Amino acid sequence: MNQLGRPPVRHFLDLRDFDTATLRHLLTLAAQLKRHPVQPLLTGRTLALLFEKPSTRTRVSFEVAMRQLGGAVTVLTDRDMQLGRGETVADTARVLSRYVDAIMLRTDRVWKLTELAAHATIPVINGLTEASHPCQLMADILTFEEHRGPIEGRKIAWLGDGNNVARSWVEAAIRFGFTLHMASPADCEIPSALQDWARAEGGQITITRNPEEAAEGAAAVVTDCWVSMSDDPGRDARSLAAYRVTADLMARAAPDALFLHCLPAHRGEEVTSDVIDGRWSVVFDEAENRLHAQKAILAWLLGDRC
Ligand code: CP
Ligand code: NVA
Repeated sequence: MNQLGRPPVRHFLDLRDFDTATLRHLLTLAAQLKRHPVQPLLTGRTLALLFEKPSTRTRVSFEVAMRQLGGAVTVLTDRDMQLGRGETVADTARVLSRYVDAIMLRTDRVWKLTELAAHATIPVINGLTEASHPCQLMADILTFEEHRGPIEGRKIAWLGDGNNVARSWVEAAIRFGFTLHMASPADCEIPSALQDWARAEGGQITITRNPEEAAEGAAAVVTDCWVSMSDDPGRDARSLAAYRVTADLMARAAPDALFLHCLPAHRGEEVTSDVIDGRWSVVFDEAENRLHAQKAILAWLLGDRC
């Protein structure tokens, strides 16, 4: 109970906030919900989806998830909200808490997510910030394990930009106990504070400039776009070309290696078409699993029996 005598509010902000058992529970729930997709777990509940950045997968998967669980959504972009005209995040949190049962926010200002969670009296979900994308990682781990069994102890390779998705892969590596080999140019490495955190947690994170070394024997090779939504659209991404995932690179990974990408993809930039459309690729399973993983998150945050 908190000072007001209410049970503390659960949020889903970052993987590092949870212990392994909780994240494993969510994956088990996701697999169950995948087998039985329509269940009235959230009848009468409403989720507000706040988008300050574009989305295809996150928007549609959260909308469908709520509908299949018996609930509803209201979708707002920064053009619709007074937040876009200077209303504070704190006031937005207080007001939405009077109408809806949970809020998902996509923003490129992580402080807004933190502020929203600090002032909301209902659960807040991170739908992507410039610093992380935890819902994506729940779908990614679910996908890997559906195809290849437990990820614990496996070698996973990240190639390219040390962006929001890469940073959530680091947190996942710590919590799910796999080895993450990251190959990035010096100007695109994950932040040193995150490297320090991973080391302090006893994580198996290797950072190299050599993409072949990272991919060698890996059970999965993962990449993402060169220019994220929070980046300057004119960002000079030429240094990332050496980290493109090609068939030659996949040949260095394990014979049954998977290729993962959160999408949207840019064929010919971070990955060649023959890889993303080839035998290694599970990218559309990943996209589908956003739905199942997020249902588990919603049911756990809001449901009475999860
Ligand atoms: N992977 C992902 O979050 O996709 P969207 O930007 O389409 O939501
Ligand atoms: N790194 C990408 C992920 C998109 C889902 C971005 O932030 O634009």
